[in-house]
Amino acid sequence: MTEKEFIPTSYTAMENEGVVTYSSPSNIALIKYWGKLEHQIPANPSISFTLNECSTTTSVQYKKLETPGKEFSFELLFEGRSKEDFKPKINTFLQRVEKYLPFLKDYHFVINTSNTFPHSSGIASSASGMSALALCFMEIERSFLKEMPPEYFNKKVSFLSRLGSGSACRSNQGPIMQWGESTAIEDSSNLYGVVYPYLIHENFKNYQDTILLVDKGEKQVSSTVGHELMHDHPYAKSRFEQAHSNLKRLKDIFASGDLDAFITIVESEALTLHAMMMTSNPYFILMKPNTLEIINRIWKFRSQSKTHVCFTLDAGANVHVLYPENEKETVFTFIKEGLAPFCQSGQYICDQVGQGAKKL
Ligand code: PMV
Repeated sequence: MTEKEFIPTSYTAMENEGVVTYSSPSNIALIKYWGKLEHQIPANPSISFTLNECSTTTSVQYKKLETPGKEFSFELLFEGRSKEDFKPKINTFLQRVEKYLPFLKDYHFVINTSNTFPHSSGIASSASGMSALALCFMEIERSFLKEMPPEYFNKKVSFLSRLGSGSACRSNQGPIMQWGESTAIEDSSNLYGVVYPYLIHENFKNYQDTILLVDKGEKQVSSTVGHELMHDHPYAKSRFEQAHSNLKRLKDIFASGDLDAFITIVESEALTLHAMMMTSNPYFILMKPNTLEIINRIWKFRSQSKTHVCFTLDAGANVHVLYPENEKETVFTFIKEGLAPFCQSGQYICDQVGQGAKKL
């Protein structure tokens, strides 16, 4: 599909008012998106587990204006309270998607949003937040049309989410989402994420993700700045090639259920992401001493216990501990006793792979 196909030609019936609510989850990348071109076009393909518990719930109330405004008309509430400092980000999102949702200036919107995970936990809410918001606007658009094929709905949700925050395009569906053109995935696109279309071995069913909150502070480097640092990066070219080849390898691993090979790719991707930041100009170290302590303890425990626990990282100090469902008891005991002491205030969040957004 091309961008043009996301521009609607006309609406059949525009409701005067209404309200829609969606909950959309976060996702954790196994192959990382890091580096982009204009309009959030990814420099390499990525793939992620959709999460189940960490999510954003957003409701959008809409009311037709007597005369369409020159600017967007909206109020923004976070957990029921007005949140002025979130408004510029939403305004930018509305500007980027207006071409594809031409009704936006005809209405006044009240956007009310909340997260299931604690505010300032260091967990980015942009993926779940932008996805939930895109879903609400798409539900409104769908009500203006006689019919919209579900496949188109999902693609356009992902397309719009991407314009809010790249990784958000991998949140609306599950259990595994892929984004970015790759010769390994038929129908893959730079414009939106697709549900991973091939065989997934039982071993990956209900895969567990315990998120260790190592550092709950503000991100040291915003992802916008981080992506930009890949432009003149000395290792960018080989990094992008590596992501393509890792995706191909992961496809065989998903089919065969080879957990050792899975671990090798996932941990290497996490460390490569951080290596890119350590070798950019300017350079950053986003891991904290406890991030490293946790990684070392995971490696030691894995070799002693013969389990398949591994880690991945976002662009921050928190650690996502990944493990198969049938090893949950052993690994979770280890997390509580051996890893939680290295988390800020002993905090962690239990999550697992999920199926995507829900209409409420
Ligand atoms: O969606 P953004 O622009 O915040 O970028 C997120 C990038 C990573 O989380 C580090 C990796 C990924 O693929 O999700």
